[in-house]
Amino acid sequence: MASALVPDAPVLEVRGLTVEYETAAGPVRAVDDFDLDVLPGEFVGVVGESGCGKSTMLFGIAQLLSPPARISAGSVSFRGRDLVTMTAKELSATRWRDLSVVMQSAMNALNPVTQLGKQFEDTMRAHGERSGEVIQQRSVEVLQLVGIDPVHLKSYPHQLSGGMRQRAMIAMALLFTPDLVIMDEPTSALDVVAQRSLMVQIKELQQRLGFAVVFVTHDMSLVSHFSDRLVVMYAAQAVEIGPTRAVFDNPGHPYTRGLLDAFPSIRGPRVPLTGIPGSPPNLLNPPVGCRFAPRCPHRFELCDAPPPLYEAPGSLAACHLHAPAVAEVSR
Ligand SMILES: Nc1ncnc2c1ncn2[C@@H]1O[C@H](COP(=O)(O)OP(=O)(O)OP(=O)(O)O)[C@@H](O)[C@H]1O
Ligand SMILES: [Mg+2]
Repeated sequence: MASALVPDAPVLEVRGLTVEYETAAGPVRAVDDFDLDVLPGEFVGVVGESGCGKSTMLFGIAQLLSPPARISAGSVSFRGRDLVTMTAKELSATRWRDLSVVMQSAMNALNPVTQLGKQFEDTMRAHGERSGEVIQQRSVEVLQLVGIDPVHLKSYPHQLSGGMRQRAMIAMALLFTPDLVIMDEPTSALDVVAQRSLMVQIKELQQRLGFAVVFVTHDMSLVSHFSDRLVVMYAAQAVEIGPTRAVFDNPGHPYTRGLLDAFPSIRGPRVPLTGIPGSPPNLLNPPVGCRFAPRCPHRFELCDAPPPLYEAPGSLAACHLHAPAVAEVSR
């Protein structure tokens, strides 16, 4: 409980989070023993190929999963309280006010038959705000924060462009100045220029208002510019975690290196894109040892056993190349 009062205690501590989808063929473990700490005001980027479990992980943190998905193990401590064991009532008191979520598809998250202003109002009233004046003022403020003209409080979602809808979702996420905002590809529907300007806005707001962000994206150049720390996911697991700069300069996991090689450097010299041959494993029946081994150019005998997160030069990496005895030999 006291962690909210300790300066610099993590706002979010995820431990052993495991999420399974029940399917006719058996359980699909889409998030497997996932750990993450997020400090106040920190910007954490999460990257990984499509289907590796990024959205499922975010939904698991925010307690937004619905059947056939369920959390089969782990805890999600937010400001010292476990969200997994909270009642629906406690959760709805926390969501939006202290922790808010911007989904992968803003169109699905906004109610199509309700004006924007009414959706903001309903959310604020649900959290006990009674003053129409305060609601109006705050709604205007958050729209202005994300660069939308407040006349659009009277608009329905379909009357807004895709980019405006995404910004409207971000505005809604900021109605209460939360401690943590979870974002799932909030800029993915935008063209590159609009994407950049929205990212710059998100970053400015984050620095001004001081909330922490967990941000999922496919775009390595976005995380390289905006995140403090980077989590790389592969086949339902975190395979590398470290300060963004250190991971970019010295990736500790061969998969991270492959991801970086697959993206063109914006400022660096032009190099051919190599990508990563092969495809991720089926999560119904993943390899017993390192899940990346079948695609890995460095595969060796230890890879038949699952690697823990080892200390690598700039990060923690789940790769046996960093097992102390192996790292010693290669030094
Ligand atoms: N309803 C479902 N039933 C069964 N399996 C599912 C279901 N939804 C997702 N999955 C499985 O969970 C895995 C993770 O899906 P998730 O949507 O979390 O991936 P993601 O990393 O967010 O992908 P993307 O980058 O495409 O958004 C997928 O590989 C998929 O096989
Ligand atoms: Mg997703």
